[in-house]
Amino acid sequence: MDCRLALLTGLAWFVVVGNVGAQEHRVRLQPPRPFAAAPDPLSTPSILQNRSTIPGVVEVTLTAATARIALLPGAPTDVFAYNGSIPGPTLEVHEGDRVIIHFHNGLPEPTTVHWHGLNLPANADGSPYDPVAPGAGHDYVFTVGRGTAGTYWYHPHPDGRSGYQIAKGLFGAIIIRAADDPLAGIPERLLILSDNRFRPDGSLDLPDPDSPQGQIDMENGREGDVLFVNGRVMPTLPIRSGAVQRWRVINASAARVYRLTLAGQTLMHVGDDGGLFEQPAEVHEILVANSERVELLVRGAGQPGSRTTLQDLPYDRYVPQTRPADWNQTRDVLTLAYAPDPPLAPAVVPATLRVIPVLDTTQVVARRVVVMSQGLINGMAMDMNRIDFHAQLGTTEIWEIENVVGMDHPFHLHGFHFQVLDRNGVPVTRRSWKDTVNVPRHETVRVIVRFDGYPGKWMFHCHILDHEDQGMMGVLELK
Ligand code: C2O
Ligand code: CU
Ligand code: CU
Repeated sequence: MDCRLALLTGLAWFVVVGNVGAQEHRVRLQPPRPFAAAPDPLSTPSILQNRSTIPGVVEVTLTAATARIALLPGAPTDVFAYNGSIPGPTLEVHEGDRVIIHFHNGLPEPTTVHWHGLNLPANADGSPYDPVAPGAGHDYVFTVGRGTAGTYWYHPHPDGRSGYQIAKGLFGAIIIRAADDPLAGIPERLLILSDNRFRPDGSLDLPDPDSPQGQIDMENGREGDVLFVNGRVMPTLPIRSGAVQRWRVINASAARVYRLTLAGQTLMHVGDDGGLFEQPAEVHEILVANSERVELLVRGAGQPGSRTTLQDLPYDRYVPQTRPADWNQTRDVLTLAYAPDPPLAPAVVPATLRVIPVLDTTQVVARRVVVMSQGLINGMAMDMNRIDFHAQLGTTEIWEIENVVGMDHPFHLHGFHFQVLDRNGVPVTRRSWKDTVNVPRHETVRVIVRFDGYPGKWMFHCHILDHEDQGMMGVLELK
């Protein structure tokens, strides 16, 4: 039975081993990868331990501190880590939970913790307005919104230093669960994608901004040639033939955009930044820009004992002047290894995942234009003392985000989810909740947003961290 047919006819979705996607098999020549040989199982970050016994309350402790950790096997180096691990522990909560995070800054410099994609009070957003001094602490307190179940992440957001601190190791996942998850019961895997660059001695290569490489990093955003999944290089993820896994993928890279494909088979794209779609969509590859998340259903379409590779296909987001020489290389991300056991019976996945309310364009009270040029928004660098946009709580607006330069810029808004209306005037038909949208070179993306939530000052910015740190950011004030 054909997947698409099953979806169209509204029947349950049956997984047929070795059927759909087999014709997609393409042979790709792989350049030798230095770490591909080491069999390293996929590790999953620990879950932040809830020390509250009150139902509906999650109370955790998080510390950012210096540490010595071997990011590359056998080469311990100086890093920053949340609770001593890279990535940091996962914050796992449920819709409606009251969350209290006791944060302590053990770093030698100011930091914040930003809960990327969450709708929360402005004083809990961890924006550059609320730095936490070295040795000081801050309690982040918020309630998890209904309908926000999905995959998010947390990271530092201090003025001008986000890229540095994230490169040093500060990032972690957030999983918000719903009581009525239509995919409950399907085994889950968290995949936090990051990359980094090292000197020959295994220390982090963070060049002086004035050096030639520093200048290229400022232009492109800093990319590394070593790709990590949950802090491991080219790990192996076991799967059983016939099984289905739900992958929550987070792009925590400063600038690398992932174009993911699973060699020899298709993927079921079931959700993005703000949780599940209304219906699954079968795709051959998927683009995940910086700070975006995707949820995928991966079917164990391979034979018992076989292997396949999750790959990052080349994606040209660059201007020609600074495009890296190896940009057109396909990179291996992870090995999917089939157990020798006989295939499981095909699993059933619902054809409808949920209903996403449509934001009503007739309610729009303001239309704004956000012009992104290199390092600037509407021709200006961020000034924390300037408010770029004033808006009213409870109203709906359309933002037209125009990229007028020759490289991609992923646009992110704090505090509120939006829906993408169109790209270059072409309507986007698959409805979803987004907090980040990639705006390719010379393209215009229109999004609609309803400011349901909290008053205060909210950042919007390019999520290439080097651009953000340079001030490619603006401030929205809601009253
Ligand atoms: Cu991922 Cu302003 O944040
Ligand atoms: Cu954010
Ligand atoms: Cu940018």
